[in-house]
Amino acid sequence: MRPKVFITRQLPQPALDLILPECETEMWTDELPPPRAVLMDKVRDVDGLLCLLTDKIDAPLMDNAPRLKVISNCAVGYDNIDVAAATERGIAVGNTPGVLTETTADFAFALLLAAARRVVEAERYTRAGKWKTWGLTVLLGQDVFGATLGLVGLGRIGTAVAKRARGFEMRVLYYDPQRRPEVETQLGITYADLDTVVRQADFLSIHTPLTETTRHLVNADLLRKMKKTAILVNTARGAVVDQVALYTALREGWIAGAALDVTDPEPIPLDDPLLTLDNCIITPHIASASVATRTKMAVMAAHNLLAGVRGEPLPNPVNVVRGERVP
Ligand code: DGY
Repeated sequence: MRPKVFITRQLPQPALDLILPECETEMWTDELPPPRAVLMDKVRDVDGLLCLLTDKIDAPLMDNAPRLKVISNCAVGYDNIDVAAATERGIAVGNTPGVLTETTADFAFALLLAAARRVVEAERYTRAGKWKTWGLTVLLGQDVFGATLGLVGLGRIGTAVAKRARGFEMRVLYYDPQRRPEVETQLGITYADLDTVVRQADFLSIHTPLTETTRHLVNADLLRKMKKTAILVNTARGAVVDQVALYTALREGWIAGAALDVTDPEPIPLDDPLLTLDNCIITPHIASASVATRTKMAVMAAHNLLAGVRGEPLPNPVNVVRGERVP
């Protein structure tokens, strides 16, 4: 009998071409994620689940899926999955690291530049018919070239952002719980404690996973330490930033601006006060959204799914399991 899998959103064809010949497949094709009750029902008799970061995969859901052997997340981040619960139950969890690094770093830099030079505001200004003449003080921003970039987190994406910063002759400081001397030498960047990075950065870019330690890491205390001219960029996870504190910081001028590709919750409610601010750019979690990268992510997720239903080690595992589902 072919393994049965549930896929929580339409996948690009190259990923389906891998899965369909091997698995009895059901795919949720709506634009929105399957509601909780639907997901609970769909996992009842599946061997594999391919999900997105919008699907909450917790212990009750796993307990409703007695045959489930693998949860393949089509994302590098996996804070939507209770990995400990999966491991306890012998369910393999996979993710998609590596393939989205450069695309995400490109976008982090795009946000940094856009916020520094007020690109979004300027575009709105033009469309609103406010462009009357060339003015010496119109829409002044911050220089990026030669500025100090503070990175919170020096994993793959943080490192890729640091590489881009070299082209702008930026001084790069980073904080990460794990110091990376080889990257320091290779890229000419400097390790510092979080406090120093925050205080010295002209641009502070967040590249840390969401964990209980990093939740609201960017809070009122941290924001108060930043330079008044500094700009915060977040392409990691929304909940790393305390958005209430960020609103106050932006409104009261503790910092000059912010550019967020991720919010908490997602999508950001339309009545969120952050959306009233000109000095805050918000994009809909699209840092990895290039055609090529999203296809690579889906293909990688398909490989994890297939390995899991076959009882083989996943090519990109998040946890270590015995290989057989614990009854
Ligand atoms: C991820 O993969 O975790 C990103 O947030 C989406 O690409």
